[in-house]
Amino acid sequence: MKLFALLSLALGLWAAQASAANLVCYYDSASYIREGLGKLLTPDLEIALQFCSHLIYGYAGINPNTYQVQSLHEDLDVHKHQYSEVTALKRKYPHLKVLLSVGGDQDVDPEHPNKYLELLEGEKVKQTSFINSAYSLVRSYGFDGLDLSFQFPKNKPRKVHSDIGMVWKKFKKLFTGDFIVDEKSEQHKEEFTAFVRDVRNALRPDNMMLTLTVLPNVNSSWYFDVPALVGNLDFVTLAAFDFLTPERNPKEADYTAPLYELYDQSRLSHYNANYQIDYWLGQQCPANKINLGIAAYGRAWKLTTDSGLTGEPVVKETDGPAPAGMQSQQPGLLSWPEVCAKLPNPSNAYLKGADAPLRRVSDPTKRYGAYAFRPADGNGEHGMWVSYEDPDSAANKAAYVHSKNLGGLALFDLSYDDFRGLCTGDKFPILRAAKFRL
Ligand SMILES: *[C@@H]1O[C@H](CO)[C@@H](O)[C@H](O)[C@H]1NC(C)=O
Repeated sequence: MKLFALLSLALGLWAAQASAANLVCYYDSASYIREGLGKLLTPDLEIALQFCSHLIYGYAGINPNTYQVQSLHEDLDVHKHQYSEVTALKRKYPHLKVLLSVGGDQDVDPEHPNKYLELLEGEKVKQTSFINSAYSLVRSYGFDGLDLSFQFPKNKPRKVHSDIGMVWKKFKKLFTGDFIVDEKSEQHKEEFTAFVRDVRNALRPDNMMLTLTVLPNVNSSWYFDVPALVGNLDFVTLAAFDFLTPERNPKEADYTAPLYELYDQSRLSHYNANYQIDYWLGQQCPANKINLGIAAYGRAWKLTTDSGLTGEPVVKETDGPAPAGMQSQQPGLLSWPEVCAKLPNPSNAYLKGADAPLRRVSDPTKRYGAYAFRPADGNGEHGMWVSYEDPDSAANKAAYVHSKNLGGLALFDLSYDDFRGLCTGDKFPILRAAKFRL
């Protein structure tokens, strides 16, 4: 009897713990206005919600003149009622929290590339304008809070150089500091801490949430005073992917989101998820406030005849982004169903050229992730190398989250998962795989 009671207590605790983990789902409403199979409508979105603890609705931006927060797709978000339609889904999924996110690398404004920094540097009136408008958007459309996917300057991409030049370059870097992207990062760090405190104070009376998304390649050491910041955040999500991309690193291909460091060649020690997580843990951020962010898409490079035949990363002499996928319509980016369709299957086994299947190379060590490739042909054409997350590797990262008692896992974003079930028939297979291992 006693044993049974203990056992059920343990099971109960286990279940409570299992269900306590966050599964944070990013939703970019711009996926609603895509053409073709990549178009994600509200009924598709709804299927995911049974798995998500939080939905991060992206993206709002900053008006460069008034510093007010505003929708980047007014037609859709406001006039077609997508804001209210999505927050209304909370009635059906009462466990779900829906947050409005600002930035997310989607607020691209060539005429005001530094507006996020200007907001921090500026007079208080700019920040007040941001805070009041954010509050009223969140409030009037029924969001549970605000997420700051704050667009800080990104790390410079690592340079490609010959092995001989390598040592000298490393040495020189120490003195020239050519990795510095922001001379005033210390100041911005302080200003951001104060800014977050003010946003928090504005949201507190209504018990609204405030979260932070650290975008890919934003250096946490430069911009976040973690001990001073975390008390004002409900959680922080580290977008630990896109460490290399074909846009940033056109000449070399490598794992885009390795879990651990691969000790060889010219890799930088902070370009892996574990380093980023450990950095935040080391700065006294409670583990349960950290979510590990993973991408549901792969990054694809064009291979040349000089890239060789083995596919083994780091792959040299690549030629920038591979052609865009039919659905995602972005060069060098393939959604998971697009990657899946290129892996060997009965319907592509005999196809040639640009339709020939890629060779899949899985990762039995579970440390770096999978990749797939097709060497360039005799004419130097149709070469492709893609690093991607699949349901297995997502489950593996969920297991990592679990073993480190982190807050949870976050998926970027729902529209790149296989929401139609084209790959195996399962809808949202990456999301599901993550959920069942958390
Ligand atoms: C920030 O950049 C520096 C210099 O490149 C690097 O040493 C450090 O590890 C980076 N911090 C994080 C958290 O990635």
